[in-house]
Amino acid sequence: MNTVKTVRELRAAVARARSEGKRIGFVPTMGNLHSGHAALVAKAAQRVDFVVASIFVNPLQFGAGEDLDKYPRTLAADQEKLLQAGCQLLFAPGVEEMYPDGMAGQTRVSVPQLSEGLCGASRPGHFEGVATVVSKLFNMVQPDLAVFGQKDYQQLAVIRALVHDLNMPVQIIGEPTVRAADGLALSSRNGYLSEEQRAVAPVLYRSLSQIAQAIKGGERDYAKLLAEHQQLLEAAGLRGDYLEIRQAQNLRPATAEDRDLVILVAAYLGVTRLIDNLHLNLDTPA
Ligand code: PAF
Repeated sequence: MNTVKTVRELRAAVARARSEGKRIGFVPTMGNLHSGHAALVAKAAQRVDFVVASIFVNPLQFGAGEDLDKYPRTLAADQEKLLQAGCQLLFAPGVEEMYPDGMAGQTRVSVPQLSEGLCGASRPGHFEGVATVVSKLFNMVQPDLAVFGQKDYQQLAVIRALVHDLNMPVQIIGEPTVRAADGLALSSRNGYLSEEQRAVAPVLYRSLSQIAQAIKGGERDYAKLLAEHQQLLEAAGLRGDYLEIRQAQNLRPATAEDRDLVILVAAYLGVTRLIDNLHLNLDTPA
Protein backbone atom coordinates (compact mmCIF):
# COMPACT_ATOMS: atom_id res chain seq x y z
CA MET A 1 0.00 0.00 0.00
CA ASN A 2 1.28 3.39 -1.01
CA THR A 3 0.78 6.50 1.16
CA VAL A 4 0.61 9.91 -0.53
CA LYS A 5 0.20 13.32 1.03
CA THR A 6 -0.52 15.60 -1.92
CA VAL A 7 -3.46 15.90 -4.31
CA ARG A 8 -1.00 15.70 -7.23
CA GLU A 9 0.37 12.33 -6.11
CA LEU A 10 -3.13 11.09 -5.35
CA ARG A 11 -4.45 12.01 -8.79
CA ALA A 12 -1.41 10.42 -10.48
CA ALA A 13 -1.84 7.13 -8.56
CA VAL A 14 -5.58 7.00 -9.25
CA ALA A 15 -4.98 7.81 -12.95
CA ARG A 16 -2.51 4.89 -13.15
CA ALA A 17 -5.09 2.52 -11.65
CA ARG A 18 -7.76 3.81 -14.04
CA SER A 19 -5.43 3.38 -17.04
CA GLU A 20 -5.14 -0.29 -15.99
CA GLY A 21 -8.94 -0.52 -16.26
CA LYS A 22 -9.50 -0.63 -12.49
CA ARG A 23 -12.64 0.60 -10.75
CA ILE A 24 -11.98 2.87 -7.81
CA GLY A 25 -13.50 2.54 -4.34
CA PHE A 26 -13.04 5.13 -1.62
CA VAL A 27 -13.23 5.07 2.19
CA PRO A 28 -12.80 8.50 3.80
CA THR A 29 -11.81 8.41 7.49
CA MET A 30 -10.31 10.55 10.20
CA GLY A 31 -7.92 7.77 11.24
CA ASN A 32 -7.50 6.03 14.61
CA LEU A 33 -8.97 3.07 12.79
CA HIS A 34 -10.82 0.12 14.34
CA SER A 35 -12.53 -2.97 12.93
CA GLY A 36 -15.52 -0.86 11.85
CA HIS A 37 -13.25 1.00 9.42
CA ALA A 38 -11.65 -2.27 8.31
CA ALA A 39 -15.14 -3.53 7.41
CA LEU A 40 -15.66 -0.44 5.20
CA VAL A 41 -12.40 -1.09 3.37
CA ALA A 42 -13.19 -4.79 3.05
CA LYS A 43 -16.62 -3.94 1.57
CA ALA A 44 -14.99 -1.61 -0.97
CA ALA A 45 -12.40 -4.29 -1.80
CA GLN A 46 -15.21 -6.78 -2.55
CA ARG A 47 -16.73 -4.37 -5.04
CA VAL A 48 -13.79 -2.77 -6.87
CA ASP A 49 -10.19 -3.48 -7.89
CA PHE A 50 -8.51 -0.45 -6.33
CA VAL A 51 -9.36 0.89 -2.86
CA VAL A 52 -8.30 4.36 -1.78
CA ALA A 53 -8.67 5.41 1.87
CA SER A 54 -8.08 8.86 3.28
CA ILE A 55 -7.07 9.93 6.75
CA PHE A 56 -7.72 13.56 7.46
CA VAL A 57 -8.87 15.05 10.76
CA ASN A 58 -10.97 17.78 9.22
CA PRO A 59 -10.91 20.99 11.30
CA LEU A 60 -13.92 22.34 9.40
CA GLN A 61 -16.28 19.81 11.02
CA PHE A 62 -15.19 20.42 14.63
CA GLY A 63 -16.84 23.13 16.69
CA ALA A 64 -15.17 25.35 19.28
CA GLY A 65 -14.45 23.33 22.42
CA GLU A 66 -14.71 19.98 20.60
CA ASP A 67 -11.95 17.36 20.47
CA LEU A 68 -10.04 18.48 17.32
CA ASP A 69 -6.73 18.82 19.17
CA LYS A 70 -6.96 15.64 21.17
CA TYR A 71 -8.40 13.49 18.31
CA PRO A 72 -5.91 10.58 18.18
CA ARG A 73 -3.41 10.63 15.28
CA THR A 74 -2.15 7.05 14.85
CA LEU A 75 -0.84 6.94 11.28
CA ALA A 76 1.56 3.97 11.52
CA ALA A 77 -1.02 1.67 13.17
CA ASP A 78 -3.69 2.87 10.72
CA GLN A 79 -1.47 2.10 7.70
CA GLU A 80 -1.05 -1.47 8.94
CA LYS A 81 -4.81 -1.92 9.42
CA LEU A 82 -5.62 -0.49 6.00
CA LEU A 83 -3.09 -2.78 4.34
CA GLN A 84 -4.58 -5.83 6.10
CA ALA A 85 -8.11 -4.79 5.10
CA GLY A 86 -7.24 -4.58 1.38
CA CYS A 87 -6.50 -0.89 0.78
CA GLN A 88 -4.11 -0.06 -2.11
CA LEU A 89 -3.62 3.68 -1.64
CA LEU A 90 -3.77 5.95 1.41
CA PHE A 91 -4.23 9.68 1.02
CA ALA A 92 -3.09 11.38 4.25
CA PRO A 93 -2.92 15.11 3.54
CA GLY A 94 -2.12 17.88 6.01
CA VAL A 95 -4.45 20.82 6.64
CA GLU A 96 -2.47 23.05 4.21
CA GLU A 97 -2.95 20.54 1.41
CA MET A 98 -6.71 20.36 1.94
CA TYR A 99 -7.23 24.07 2.65
CA PRO A 100 -4.27 25.83 0.94
CA ASP A 101 -5.97 29.23 1.14
CA GLY A 102 -7.17 28.76 4.71
CA MET A 103 -10.66 27.89 5.83
CA ALA A 104 -12.28 31.30 6.22
CA GLY A 105 -12.87 31.82 2.50
CA GLN A 106 -13.33 28.15 1.66
CA THR A 107 -16.38 27.41 -0.52
CA ARG A 108 -18.81 25.41 1.58
CA VAL A 109 -21.32 22.73 0.76
CA SER A 110 -24.41 22.70 2.92
CA VAL A 111 -27.30 20.27 2.91
CA PRO A 112 -30.28 22.00 4.50
CA GLN A 113 -33.05 20.17 6.38
CA LEU A 114 -31.18 16.86 6.77
CA SER A 115 -28.34 18.69 8.54
CA GLU A 116 -30.73 20.35 10.97
CA GLY A 117 -31.77 18.69 14.23
CA LEU A 118 -30.19 15.66 15.92
CA CYS A 119 -26.37 16.06 15.75
CA GLY A 120 -26.80 19.19 13.62
CA ALA A 121 -28.57 20.93 16.52
CA SER A 122 -25.84 20.26 19.07
CA ARG A 123 -22.95 20.60 16.63
CA PRO A 124 -23.68 23.73 14.55
CA GLY A 125 -21.69 23.76 11.30
CA HIS A 126 -20.63 20.12 11.71
CA PHE A 127 -22.43 18.75 8.68
CA GLU A 128 -21.38 21.68 6.52
CA GLY A 129 -17.79 20.77 7.43
CA VAL A 130 -18.43 17.11 6.60
CA ALA A 131 -20.26 17.87 3.33
CA THR A 132 -17.51 20.26 2.25
CA VAL A 133 -14.59 17.92 2.94
CA VAL A 134 -16.38 14.89 1.45
CA SER A 135 -17.16 16.89 -1.71
CA LYS A 136 -13.52 17.96 -1.98
CA LEU A 137 -12.30 14.40 -1.40
CA PHE A 138 -14.73 13.04 -4.01
CA ASN A 139 -13.43 15.58 -6.52
CA MET A 140 -9.84 14.64 -5.70
CA VAL A 141 -10.29 10.85 -5.85
CA GLN A 142 -13.21 10.67 -8.32
CA PRO A 143 -14.20 7.20 -7.08
CA ASP A 144 -16.84 4.95 -8.61
CA LEU A 145 -18.14 4.14 -5.15
CA ALA A 146 -17.58 5.22 -1.57
CA VAL A 147 -18.34 3.34 1.64
CA PHE A 148 -19.50 4.94 4.90
CA GLY A 149 -20.58 3.49 8.25
CA GLN A 150 -24.25 3.46 9.20
CA LYS A 151 -23.26 4.36 12.76
CA ASP A 152 -23.14 7.97 11.58
CA TYR A 153 -26.70 7.68 10.27
CA GLN A 154 -27.36 11.39 9.80
CA GLN A 155 -23.94 11.88 8.16
CA LEU A 156 -24.71 9.08 5.69
CA ALA A 157 -28.09 10.70 4.88
CA VAL A 158 -26.38 14.07 4.33
CA ILE A 159 -23.77 12.50 2.03
CA ARG A 160 -26.40 10.61 0.01
CA ALA A 161 -28.30 13.88 -0.40
CA LEU A 162 -25.27 15.90 -1.52
CA VAL A 163 -24.27 13.26 -4.07
CA HIS A 164 -27.84 13.20 -5.41
CA ASP A 165 -28.36 16.98 -5.38
CA LEU A 166 -24.97 17.82 -6.94
CA ASN A 167 -25.20 14.99 -9.50
CA MET A 168 -21.96 13.40 -8.38
CA PRO A 169 -21.32 10.11 -10.21
CA VAL A 170 -20.44 8.20 -7.02
CA GLN A 171 -22.34 5.23 -5.65
CA ILE A 172 -22.73 5.51 -1.86
CA ILE A 173 -22.72 2.32 0.17
CA GLY A 174 -23.74 2.24 3.84
CA GLU A 175 -22.12 -0.51 5.92
CA PRO A 176 -23.75 -1.86 9.10
CA THR A 177 -22.33 -0.73 12.43
CA VAL A 178 -19.69 -3.01 13.91
CA ARG A 179 -20.29 -3.63 17.62
CA ALA A 180 -18.27 -4.95 20.55
CA ALA A 181 -19.54 -8.21 22.11
CA ASP A 182 -21.54 -6.18 24.67
CA GLY A 183 -23.28 -4.18 21.91
CA LEU A 184 -21.32 -0.91 22.10
CA ALA A 185 -20.87 0.54 18.61
CA LEU A 186 -17.17 0.75 17.73
CA SER A 187 -16.02 4.36 17.58
CA SER A 188 -12.70 6.12 17.69
CA ARG A 189 -14.10 8.14 20.60
CA ASN A 190 -14.61 5.00 22.75
CA GLY A 191 -10.89 5.32 23.51
CA TYR A 192 -11.67 8.43 25.58
CA LEU A 193 -13.76 6.38 28.04
CA SER A 194 -12.46 5.35 31.46
CA GLU A 195 -12.84 1.69 32.45
CA GLU A 196 -15.98 2.52 34.46
CA GLN A 197 -17.49 4.58 31.65
CA ARG A 198 -16.72 1.82 29.15
CA ALA A 199 -18.66 -0.61 31.36
CA VAL A 200 -21.69 1.72 31.37
CA ALA A 201 -21.65 2.63 27.64
CA PRO A 202 -23.47 -0.50 26.30
CA VAL A 203 -26.64 0.82 27.96
CA LEU A 204 -27.07 2.97 24.83
CA TYR A 205 -27.53 0.00 22.51
CA ARG A 206 -29.60 -1.86 25.12
CA SER A 207 -31.99 1.09 25.22
CA LEU A 208 -32.20 1.25 21.42
CA SER A 209 -32.91 -2.49 21.28
CA GLN A 210 -35.58 -2.28 24.01
CA ILE A 211 -37.27 0.65 22.27
CA ALA A 212 -37.28 -1.34 19.00
CA GLN A 213 -38.76 -4.36 20.81
CA ALA A 214 -41.50 -2.22 22.36
CA ILE A 215 -42.41 -0.73 18.96
CA LYS A 216 -42.44 -4.20 17.39
CA GLY A 217 -44.73 -5.24 20.25
CA GLY A 218 -47.21 -2.50 19.26
CA GLU A 219 -46.18 0.47 21.44
CA ARG A 220 -46.93 3.71 19.56
CA ASP A 221 -46.73 6.26 22.37
CA TYR A 222 -43.25 7.33 21.30
CA ALA A 223 -43.08 10.30 23.67
CA LYS A 224 -43.70 8.06 26.69
CA LEU A 225 -41.31 5.36 25.45
CA LEU A 226 -38.52 7.85 24.81
CA ALA A 227 -39.03 9.63 28.14
CA GLU A 228 -38.74 6.30 29.99
CA HIS A 229 -35.48 5.49 28.23
CA GLN A 230 -34.06 8.99 28.69
CA GLN A 231 -34.57 8.42 32.40
CA LEU A 232 -32.90 5.01 32.24
CA LEU A 233 -29.89 6.50 30.45
CA GLU A 234 -29.64 9.30 32.96
CA ALA A 235 -29.94 6.84 35.87
CA ALA A 236 -27.01 4.92 34.34
CA GLY A 237 -24.91 8.09 34.44
CA LEU A 238 -25.27 9.42 30.88
CA ARG A 239 -26.26 12.98 30.06
CA GLY A 240 -28.74 12.80 27.21
CA ASP A 241 -28.32 14.98 24.14
CA TYR A 242 -31.15 13.45 22.10
CA LEU A 243 -33.11 10.22 21.87
CA GLU A 244 -35.52 10.27 18.94
CA ILE A 245 -37.55 8.12 16.59
CA ARG A 246 -37.43 9.37 13.02
CA GLN A 247 -38.51 8.21 9.56
CA ALA A 248 -35.58 6.17 8.30
CA GLN A 249 -35.50 7.55 4.76
CA ASN A 250 -35.66 11.30 5.40
CA LEU A 251 -35.11 11.73 9.16
CA ARG A 252 -38.45 13.52 9.60
CA PRO A 253 -40.13 12.94 12.98
CA ALA A 254 -41.93 9.57 12.94
CA THR A 255 -45.66 9.20 13.44
CA ALA A 256 -47.48 6.12 14.74
CA GLU A 257 -48.33 5.22 11.11
CA ASP A 258 -44.73 5.12 9.83
CA ARG A 259 -43.27 1.67 9.21
CA ASP A 260 -39.64 2.41 8.32
CA LEU A 261 -38.05 3.91 11.40
CA VAL A 262 -34.69 4.76 12.88
CA ILE A 263 -34.12 5.28 16.58
CA LEU A 264 -31.21 7.64 17.19
CA VAL A 265 -29.37 8.51 20.36
CA ALA A 266 -26.57 10.86 21.39
CA ALA A 267 -25.42 11.13 24.99
CA TYR A 268 -22.43 12.23 27.01
CA LEU A 269 -20.48 9.96 29.31
CA GLY A 270 -18.36 12.45 31.18
CA VAL A 271 -17.08 14.71 28.38
CA THR A 272 -17.28 12.03 25.69
CA ARG A 273 -20.20 12.28 23.28
CA LEU A 274 -21.36 8.93 21.96
CA ILE A 275 -23.91 8.31 19.20
CA ASP A 276 -25.72 5.21 18.02
CA ASN A 277 -28.84 4.24 16.11
CA LEU A 278 -31.04 1.30 15.22
CA HIS A 279 -32.92 0.93 11.96
CA LEU A 280 -36.32 -0.74 12.37
CA ASN A 281 -38.49 -1.64 9.38
CA LEU A 282 -41.80 -2.97 10.66
CA ASP A 283 -42.58 -4.55 7.28
CA THR A 284 -39.40 -6.63 7.23
CA PRO A 285 -39.61 -9.93 9.12
CA ALA A 286 -37.03 -10.01 11.96
O1 PAF B 1 -17.01 9.87 9.52
C1 PAF B 1 -15.88 10.42 9.46
O2 PAF B 1 -14.86 9.85 9.83
C2 PAF B 1 -15.77 11.83 8.90
O3 PAF B 1 -16.88 12.59 9.23
C3 PAF B 1 -15.52 11.87 7.38
C4 PAF B 1 -16.67 11.27 6.60
C5 PAF B 1 -14.23 11.13 7.05
C6 PAF B 1 -15.36 13.32 6.91
O4 PAF B 1 -14.31 13.95 7.55
